[in-house]
Amino acid sequence: MHTEREAPQSLSTIRGTVRWQSPSNIAIVKYWGKHGNQLPSNPSLSFTLSSAHTTTTITYSKEGDAQLTFYFEGKDHPAFARRIEQYLESVFRIYPVLRDYRFHIRSENSFPHSTGIASSASAMSALALCFGTIASTLSKALTPASKQTISELARLGSGSASRSIYGPVAVWGAHPKIPGSSDNYAVPVENMHATFDGLCDSILIVDRGEKAVSSSAGHALMHGHPFAEQRFAQARHNLDRLIPALRNGDIETFIEVAETEALSLHAMMMTSTPSYMLMKPGTLEIIEAIRALRASSGTPVCFTLDAGPNVHVLYPGQVAPEVRSWIDSTLKQYCAEGQVIHDQAGAGPIRLKS
Ligand code: DP6
Repeated sequence: MHTEREAPQSLSTIRGTVRWQSPSNIAIVKYWGKHGNQLPSNPSLSFTLSSAHTTTTITYSKEGDAQLTFYFEGKDHPAFARRIEQYLESVFRIYPVLRDYRFHIRSENSFPHSTGIASSASAMSALALCFGTIASTLSKALTPASKQTISELARLGSGSASRSIYGPVAVWGAHPKIPGSSDNYAVPVENMHATFDGLCDSILIVDRGEKAVSSSAGHALMHGHPFAEQRFAQARHNLDRLIPALRNGDIETFIEVAETEALSLHAMMMTSTPSYMLMKPGTLEIIEAIRALRASSGTPVCFTLDAGPNVHVLYPGQVAPEVRSWIDSTLKQYCAEGQVIHDQAGAGPIRLKS
């Protein structure tokens, strides 16, 4: 017998819509190399961004033929649709209650096309958040879906996506000094020093072209890489140093770790077989200019790179006006059509009204 209170719940088991906005993130200690089913070879730490995000809307129902329809920015996107179709296997393994449903998915990015900004972290975390929310609605759970399970599901879509579930800082990968850390999901890093509140990240778009070697191919080249074990040990050691630095406001250590990690990541690419290089001349010009500014003025500004030529310029909010005007006057010349995206660390994903 259905009471009046239960009626809306039964309706929501037939059809409904959920929408999440989930941000991208920028790793300070890099994930590069994986094994098994999307398990990391070393732990990584990232700041979750705020302006660069994906908004995903999923309408679920039991009716209709196609199990999945997918629109990216209003249009068909067959490549991404195929990836989501494969991903559904992971979704059903974690949330079997979703198996009988059909999904209509729409997704948009806040950042412009062809900037070379990796969107898999924001896209896959937004999907995982939507699926987790639908699953908890369907199973009439009294509490929202666990963030841990959502982070695990996001990881199965893209490793770095596991970290985007939390803001402003998350660690993915087991590390003895981080209680609760796991290879299966990310955990938030708490008790950060105020120096890192709203850490700024200005993304300098050096080249907007498609990358010559994808991240997936790059991860795979870490198998049998001559420096793999040293690299994984270095990442663990850097995380060891970074955690207390984030808690004590030690910006010097933060800068040293961020830059070493970025260059180590690219060193792995340059020393793999086959070797490849994603940095461009503009990337190096920007790196040199940042180091020169720091040496001459002491401004706490540094860089990191993801798996591409674009440079993420990192600095505390307190020096934002001076660093941004310096970027305009000195670094914009190295950017494709002068493109710079100013972002900063944020609080994590937001559920939107559907
Ligand atoms: C260089 O998370 O994109 O940005 O798990 O294959 O989807 P997949 O890889 P992905 O790799 C990110 C690599 C990185 C470093 C990082 O974000 O930690």
